[in-house]
Amino acid sequence: MHKTAVLFVCLGNICRSPAAEGTFRHLVKEAGLEHAFHIDSCGTSAYHIGEPANARSRRTAARHGITLTSRARQLQLDDFQTFDHILAMDRSNLQDVLRMAPAESRATIALFRTFDPEANPEKVPDVPDPYYGGDDGFEEVQQIMLRTSQSFLRHIRGVVHE
Ligand code: 4NP
Repeated sequence: MHKTAVLFVCLGNICRSPAAEGTFRHLVKEAGLEHAFHIDSCGTSAYHIGEPANARSRRTAARHGITLTSRARQLQLDDFQTFDHILAMDRSNLQDVLRMAPAESRATIALFRTFDPEANPEKVPDVPDPYYGGDDGFEEVQQIMLRTSQSFLRHIRGVVHE
């Protein structure tokens, strides 16, 4: 059976995409659909390779009952063969992903917040980078992850073989 493979991408793979990965993984588990998904995250940069998610990201996710387990890695060419959906956290990440995408890529590449039910579809917002700001920014990002991952899961459930 083909698993639906989803890759979340940000710059460092220590704040936003680990939160997206962990939150989506949590929701998939709650829905009893773990067997149907392959879920991962990565960064466009090599800045933080091997690092766990940022401590503030982990603490914020933990308050919502979500454990972030990622180790940072960089986007690589074979991701475009492995993943069905590549979701970028912001426009800069999206540009970098598109620039690297080989012609034979089989992934659907989009901005993550295309699926944010509170976002204006005419003007899809970026996930703000909380790295240099205060703790409020991490909670705001977590809220974005929760509602957007929920809505993305609802969106793809129709095509997932349960
Ligand atoms: P992320 O946040 O892309 O959400 O993981 C960042 C983490 C580190 C840096 C930038 C963004 N950095 O420049 O080191």
